[in-house]
Amino acid sequence: MVKIVGLGGSLRSQSYSASALKLAAMRVEALGAEVEILNLRDLKLPFCDGSDEYPDYPDVERMKNIVKEADGLILASPEYHGSVSGSLKNALDLMSFEHLSGKVTGLISVLGGQSNSNTLNDLRVIMRWVHAWVIPEQIAIGQAWKAFDSEGKLLDPKMSERFDKFAQSLVDNTAKLI
Ligand SMILES: Cc1cc2nc3c(=O)[nH]c(=O)nc-3n(C[C@H](O)[C@H](O)[C@H](O)COP(=O)(O)O)c2cc1C
Repeated sequence: MVKIVGLGGSLRSQSYSASALKLAAMRVEALGAEVEILNLRDLKLPFCDGSDEYPDYPDVERMKNIVKEADGLILASPEYHGSVSGSLKNALDLMSFEHLSGKVTGLISVLGGQSNSNTLNDLRVIMRWVHAWVIPEQIAIGQAWKAFDSEGKLLDPKMSERFDKFAQSLVDNTAKLI
């Protein structure tokens, strides 16, 4: 069975990127994959200082192990100042090739302003650097404050279809590579 881990890159309590990640995870699960979500808000992580180990922060090892065991990843980030959130970049910096290389990866970004691909493009470069396989399907949700209903469902049916295609591609391509 394909194992996918979702990393949510917002520390905000009512995070739209966390909602988007949850929706993507549900679709991936419906296709028969096993999914685990790690929201960075729930982990106690230090800033990366280049060390291999962080004995005072057991969540570093926990995150590394969970990601290492995965076949594929979903990275969901808010757009902060035109790019990936510092917390998601830091979490990726705490890991290395051993954990990230070879993972089939789907990218989601959530923005307060108009939808664009800045965060997605930057994440694509980062993930190529660690030799992950980033799928071409990607999702940017602009003006996220009006994209979801009160239950966290997407209001735009076209965006919902995009999630279907994203999930299908992630599961299919992960299954091909494992
Ligand atoms: C520090 C900071 C920088 C931001 N920069 C951008 C930006 O460059 N472009 C944009 O459209 N929205 C920007 N926003 C708005 C966030 O992308 C938006 O609030 C988003 O919903 C946050 O994600 P979250 O709901 O998952 O926490 C910024 C918000 C913060 C706090």
